[in-house]
Amino acid sequence: MIDPAQLRKDFPALDQQVNGHPLVYLDNAATTQKPLAVINALDHYYRRDNSNVHRGLHELSNRATAAYEHARVRAAQFVNAADADEIVFTRGTTEGLNLIANTWGAVNISAGDEILLTEAEHHSNLIPWQLLAQRAGARLRFVPVRSGADGDTLDLDALEKLLAPPVKLFSFVHVSNTLALVNNAKKFCALARQRGIVSVIDAAQSIGHRPLDVRDLGCDFLSVSGHKMAGPTGIGFLYGRKELLEQLPPWQGGGEMLDSTTYETAKFKPAPHRFEAGTPNIADAIALSAAMDYLDAVGRDAIADHDARLSAYAYEKLGALDFLRILGPKSGRAGLTTFVMSGVHAHDVVEMANIFGIALRGGHHCNQPLMKKLNAPASARASFYLYNTAAEVDRLAETLVKIKQYFTR
Ligand code: ALA
Repeated sequence: MIDPAQLRKDFPALDQQVNGHPLVYLDNAATTQKPLAVINALDHYYRRDNSNVHRGLHELSNRATAAYEHARVRAAQFVNAADADEIVFTRGTTEGLNLIANTWGAVNISAGDEILLTEAEHHSNLIPWQLLAQRAGARLRFVPVRSGADGDTLDLDALEKLLAPPVKLFSFVHVSNTLALVNNAKKFCALARQRGIVSVIDAAQSIGHRPLDVRDLGCDFLSVSGHKMAGPTGIGFLYGRKELLEQLPPWQGGGEMLDSTTYETAKFKPAPHRFEAGTPNIADAIALSAAMDYLDAVGRDAIADHDARLSAYAYEKLGALDFLRILGPKSGRAGLTTFVMSGVHAHDVVEMANIFGIALRGGHHCNQPLMKKLNAPASARASFYLYNTAAEVDRLAETLVKIKQYFTR
């Protein structure tokens, strides 16, 4: 079991007062705080090693190149990819998904084809496919979210039926940032593979919270963000199964991604460098590697266990407040709780919580169609990470009571 009180000491941003109260940071699904190991890695890089990669022959460039490529090896280890060449550095989950849509999609999707998503996708895993479908004349299909006795869950019978040709690609969220729904990614990928359909996992909300093994999951692609796993913003990576990745054309052109060029044509490097045009985000990739070391030192099984405990505790505590409607499934929830307070707009909830030093997110959580479907155009969300405690959940529950009282005076 992890000791959040101990781990908090590694995260300087947590040690502050907000509006005269100790900060309770519960907006981790938007971005997590950063441990000293990550801050120090950035500091060290810029103080000592700052240089461009793959093109210098001097000491600093050699160091920067070694550290950047080590980060790629580290990312491959982190998700148990077979080869570091299966890792493309990106700006984050969104860019990874756009990369697939613009490369794999450009070659493989044409008029009459279908792309299967779920109704639980956030905009990151919706808009790239909308743009691709519009370009190619393809059709988007959606596995419905249904609301029943077990809460808001995915309609798995519908998934079985929809996952068939002419669907060519199935892209789905591993952990929903709004519903706290955890999809059975291994099963979804196996079904897709049996039916000759390419599988894509949006793992933005799961990567820093549980062990992930791309070979065990059996996915073709998996896209993640560094900033949701204790790493810096502006860096993430895409895993692509080698056989697929090495067949794909580039999507952005520039330096670094080519072997040779004339004025008219170019010969491109193999994957993954073919997909990394221009000077990459060297410092943040190196600091992301430090974040992965940190998470593994804490233990990803232990983080998952902590998430599950805190999530169950929050569901029980907030579930006892009869003026809240909690979205998502009733069991097997990930470490976040999204709720609607009767008679109080989510933005008022979030602004009032801030007065008490509590950071929540309010609104549609980049999930407009889903929120509309659930008839909850705005909701508030508390999302947890390894440094959050049961005492913070208690403070949240007490504060929500005060907010409700304030608005019903
Ligand atoms: N997708 C991020 C969130 O859920 C931004 O807040």
